[in-house]
Amino acid sequence: MSQAPKQRGKFIVLEGIDGAGKSTHIDFIAANIRSAYGVEVLITREPGGTPLAEKIREFVLHEPMDVQTEVLLVAAGRRDHIQRAIGPALERGDWVLCDRFIDSTRAYQGGGGGVDLGWIDAVNREVCGSLEPDRVILFDVPAHIAAQRRGGRGGQEDRFEAQDVAYFERVRSVYLHQMRPGSEEKTAILNAELDVSRIQKELHKIILNL
Ligand code: TYD
Repeated sequence: MSQAPKQRGKFIVLEGIDGAGKSTHIDFIAANIRSAYGVEVLITREPGGTPLAEKIREFVLHEPMDVQTEVLLVAAGRRDHIQRAIGPALERGDWVLCDRFIDSTRAYQGGGGGVDLGWIDAVNREVCGSLEPDRVILFDVPAHIAAQRRGGRGGQEDRFEAQDVAYFERVRSVYLHQMRPGSEEKTAILNAELDVSRIQKELHKIILNL
């Protein structure tokens, strides 16, 4: 007897400015998805997610470059990530939980860096084809609070973390007020100023409705 084809997995993306708290919650989200839906979850990130894209990440985060070059390098890494990791996982029926995706490019290079959003969307349409996040969970926090959190972490800053509060307010503003066309209904905005247990309660509700 032949087996019924597996249903395509869902593609869930976490977004937010640096210091909003995505990394604190990613394992919690994956564990909740596994237990709610009984699926395998691939946890991945951008820039990165494949050996080639992780190399590109190093350039983007640490080498000085023009902001349009950032868009194109991130897009090249994204193409590899989709071809070799995200696409195959979704085809197998696994779910993919990705720390950042196209909305980061719009928010950082578009909002922070001033690149035209229409051009960013056009580049990413070529790179992504029909792939779009099924759900985006946006961790929203004012830029000055995120800066305090990042300051408490210590360690070496990358090119983005080194930006000032005004830059991060522009990034945040694109996330909140200039969403990718069609993504409004698919985006859950989470008040990331709440404490960890309150955020997890909210996340639990969002996950039950994926
Ligand atoms: P992140 O994974 O949040 O860094 P970490 O958890 O190591 O602090 O994100 C890496 C940086 O990459 C972040 O500052 C935003 C930036 N970025 C862009 O500028 N454009 C993009 O398209 C993506 C995906 C990330």
